[in-house]
Amino acid sequence: DPSQLIDQHGRRKRKLRISLTDRCNFRCSYCMPDHPQWLPKKQLLSFEEIVRVARLMIGQGISHIRLTGGEPLLRRDLVSCVAALHALRSEGLEQLSMTSNASLLAPQAQALKAAGLDDLNISLDSIQPETFKRMTGRELAPVLQGIEAARAAGLGVKINSVLLRKDNADQILPLIHWARGEGLELRFIEYMPLDMPGRWQRAQVVSEDEIIAAVAAQHRVEALPRSHDPATRYRIDGEYELGVISTVSKPFCASCDRLRLTATGELYTCLFAQSGTPLRELLRADAGDAQLLEIIRTAVWHKDVGYAARQGPVERPVTMHMLGG
Ligand code: GTP
Ligand code: 5AD
Ligand code: SF4
Repeated sequence: DPSQLIDQHGRRKRKLRISLTDRCNFRCSYCMPDHPQWLPKKQLLSFEEIVRVARLMIGQGISHIRLTGGEPLLRRDLVSCVAALHALRSEGLEQLSMTSNASLLAPQAQALKAAGLDDLNISLDSIQPETFKRMTGRELAPVLQGIEAARAAGLGVKINSVLLRKDNADQILPLIHWARGEGLELRFIEYMPLDMPGRWQRAQVVSEDEIIAAVAAQHRVEALPRSHDPATRYRIDGEYELGVISTVSKPFCASCDRLRLTATGELYTCLFAQSGTPLRELLRADAGDAQLLEIIRTAVWHKDVGYAARQGPVERPVTMHMLGG
């Protein structure tokens, strides 16, 4: 079907994750190297270039865009980028989301909502200030203020918690207790091998089965049917829903409907791909829509099976903070 993006394994693409910057004001060890080298700003796609790629892909069936980083709130004039993407609703965009650490969110939440942002996934690995600081290198309080401001502005909020055995395995129940009390959706994420080369260790992964066992020791837990999103859902005590994103122990590659555009304009068809397809120079050389589409469609068609077939780290200099997760 020439109006859809489909890969050689029959998976149709619906979600495009757009990284706006590789920069981040946090220092989570599971995401970036100890001494990150930020990309020169002139290598980043302009908002015009981003919107052009987004429009072309919306024309091919992409209905959901998620802005990521690094930390997307560090990109100057983010609100105008959200507004420009919001204008693509008439062309088929249905949902406009962002993933953020929320520490810089409070002053911008209302403007982002007004510009057309629907919802945010906010990273919060601990509700305990010391543990939070140990994992991110930064303070917890501004993040809680950001969450508050987002909700007050009417933005949807989900919480993401990456678990590392040495750091926050003891935060499973406290995070559930907190999120449940706040009425916030919470998803635990298995630690994936996408950080600094040589750092990831399987022993640091807290698996979905372990997470559920820890919860079941204190609560009634039922598994819910799987939907399209990467999280497996569980109902707790008959009333609260918890998600677990278990790439490492139970890869969900067979239903993968995502594509990624890096801040420098490389199209990654998989989080674990060896490399991406560079689009920036084509955009800057005034390539026509037909040529761009042909390159995008070909790249998507060749999308690999994914982590399900790999089961370990990928050897490449690109770490998570450059890909947007
Ligand atoms: P929604 O399902 O739209 O709420 O968002 P999401 O969970 O896809 O996005 P988010 O940015 O909150 O990411 C949560 C975790 O899921 C991060 O660790 C991502 O790296 C991971 N993730 C997102 N998409 C994929 C994917 O296609 N494959 C794998 N393996 N992990 C993914
Ligand atoms: N494994 C799993 N999730 C990760 N994230 C960043 N690095 C990793 C990793 N190595 C998460 C962040 C954020 C999302 C975009 O990806 O916590 O919530
Ligand atoms: Fe920044 Fe998010 Fe990476 Fe943490 S996970 S360093 S908040 S981009």
